[in-house]
Amino acid sequence: MRFLPLVLIAAVLPCRAENVTFATAIGPVLEHNCTKCHGPTKQKAGLRLDTHAAAILGSKEGAVVNPGDPEGSELIRRVTLPPGDEDLMPSGDQPPLSPQDVVALKAWVAAGAPATEAFEPVYADRNTPLPPAAPDYRPRLGQAIALARSLGVALVPRSRVPTDGLILRTAGAPSQCDDTVLSRLAPVSDLIVEAELARTRVTDQGMAVVASWTNLERLDLTRTRVSSDGVAQLSSLRRLETLNLTQTQVDSRGLALAAKFRSVRHLWGFMGP
Ligand code: HEC
Repeated sequence: MRFLPLVLIAAVLPCRAENVTFATAIGPVLEHNCTKCHGPTKQKAGLRLDTHAAAILGSKEGAVVNPGDPEGSELIRRVTLPPGDEDLMPSGDQPPLSPQDVVALKAWVAAGAPATEAFEPVYADRNTPLPPAAPDYRPRLGQAIALARSLGVALVPRSRVPTDGLILRTAGAPSQCDDTVLSRLAPVSDLIVEAELARTRVTDQGMAVVASWTNLERLDLTRTRVSSDGVAQLSSLRRLETLNLTQTQVDSRGLALAAKFRSVRHLWGFMGP
């Protein structure tokens, strides 16, 4: 019986979390001190602090970061309260932030809380071999390239590793890519790990198709007509790590949905002031 709590903890830890960290100033501070309670597994007060968009989105009470205004930001207030104050974060018996960390957080908010590379996760140990991203592309590479070309888009290997998957590129002629093109890619869709759909004509209907691209890790929907209804369909993508929703029709509801996708580590969607 004594072992039970330990077993439960092991079962709820997300399997990817341990080899993922934020790269530089802000991400690591939040990750080391806050994401245990405000991250993928727990969202105390409805707040996640493990991606830029989630931090900007705030808690169930609303924004906790007021870009440009550290004094008017709940996040800063919570980490600068006197010791012993019951509102002080991190809460519980965790040690308070170091003065350097507080200065860094204030400076970040004062600078407009930018989505800098400070929020980019990196794999802590680059020598750890990554699991295959997709089935071996070699038997179907010729077919995939020809199919893409006939549709006015491109499929290119992400690396020389044949299980690293293919990237869907549309930048040559984004206006040629629409929902129909997405459905026609079905025979090779399990090989697609990145889809660059910025400025294409894809819509929410197309997102129903993309939702079946099970190995998709990165999806760029910048400047498309996709809305929050389209985002809702993407919840089935278990490997989606990066989702760019900049200048789409996605509103705060869609952003909140995406921020809850468990695999998503980078979410871009702050519409700007
Ligand atoms: C041990 C768990 C735990 C840790 C660690 C933790 N928090 Fe919290 N946090 C909570 C709980 C529980 C609440 C809700 C109760 C409250 O408002 O005090 C909360 C509330 C908040 C709120 C208020 C949200 C709102 O709008 O009411 C902010 C902001 C916040 N936390 C920031 C942080 C930051 C920043 C860190 C890291 C420096 C952090 N928390 C670490 C548990 C934690």
